[in-house]
Amino acid sequence: MSLVAKAFPLARPFIHMLDAEKAHRLTIRALTVLPKGRAVASPPSLKVSAFGLDFPNPLGLAAGFDKNAEVADAMLAQGFGFVEVGTLTPKPQEGNAKPRLFRLAEDRAVINRMGFNNDGHWAALKRLEARRGRPGIVGVNIGANKDSGDRIADYVQGIAFFSAIADYFTVNISSPNTPGLRALQSRAELDALLARLNEAREKQARRPPMLLKIAPDLRGDELEDIAQSCGRGAVDGILVSNTTISRPTLISRARDEMGGLSGEPLFELSTRQLAKLYLLTKGRIPLVGAGGIGSAKQAWAKITAGATLLQLYSALVYEGPGLVPAILEGLRQRFAVSGKESLAAITGSAAKDWAHQGDSGT
Ligand code: FNR
Repeated sequence: MSLVAKAFPLARPFIHMLDAEKAHRLTIRALTVLPKGRAVASPPSLKVSAFGLDFPNPLGLAAGFDKNAEVADAMLAQGFGFVEVGTLTPKPQEGNAKPRLFRLAEDRAVINRMGFNNDGHWAALKRLEARRGRPGIVGVNIGANKDSGDRIADYVQGIAFFSAIADYFTVNISSPNTPGLRALQSRAELDALLARLNEAREKQARRPPMLLKIAPDLRGDELEDIAQSCGRGAVDGILVSNTTISRPTLISRARDEMGGLSGEPLFELSTRQLAKLYLLTKGRIPLVGAGGIGSAKQAWAKITAGATLLQLYSALVYEGPGLVPAILEGLRQRFAVSGKESLAAITGSAAKDWAHQGDSGT
């Protein structure tokens, strides 16, 4: 376990006395200055291959924690099998007015309406260039500026900008905090977007795999459209999901804040959507399962629902980075008793059960 992971349980009461965004900034600062110590090793049985990349383990850090590519190596050292930086927009932007990040401790949840606050492409590119050659898979999550006159052009710029350095791309069209952005998930807009992005990718000397990140709030017919648009090689993977604008029953004081909800209350919804998409795509497109993972049991459930890879963020707020090796060890044990030859053999094994959960009459 890293120094930061060991210190977290002691520091948590103090960190949680701070405003959530200040606490996050402080955490990023601490991760940049504190010695990383020995990196957490991945159990060899948890290796996963997807879209041409070999992951030491399936558990990744979700976008939004390291928006500006400041601490990718420090987070890889915590045991993550990959780290996704961003969302990055072409121009730097401030994001929404503060406060815009809220802990819902009693619900083990977070609400955010950050609005893509980030340093922009240039600043992140310089940081990624500085770590070039270091081990570890680092994906780049791309978005559009709030005031952009041509949102698709912003994504195209992201592909052109980071193609030489990104291990993979995530095209984020599912943030609830940039007005109108999620409309890109509709069939006609998505087809146009993916065509433009693939065209842009073809022009690059290096062509990292491209994933699409979707909202958990899509209806069944919308999910069908996504599956259609993403077929025939239009994307290399789909990430399910971003935060939800829905509000399951919550008890924390901040429950009525506007924004995207993540953490424990997102687990069921996002896992059900993941399973539905797994069935719709017949398991042919690798899926990344995110939403409410806070234990090995939940990580395992996501894999059985259809995930090839996993991501988490919100649970770190409550559990700290020691959660990463704990989940890896739990996955290792579950895999060992499964008797299967690889994690891939587990993927989707309970997709039907998950997909039909919550259906009336079942
Ligand atoms: C996010 N998330 C996010 N996603 C994304 O694609 N781009 C982003 O910039 C952000 N920013 C962001 C900020 C904060 C504070 C949170 C909590 C989340 C969504 C995140 O990557 C993930 O998809 C969801 O949070 C669901 O996973 P967890 O948090 O439930 O494990």
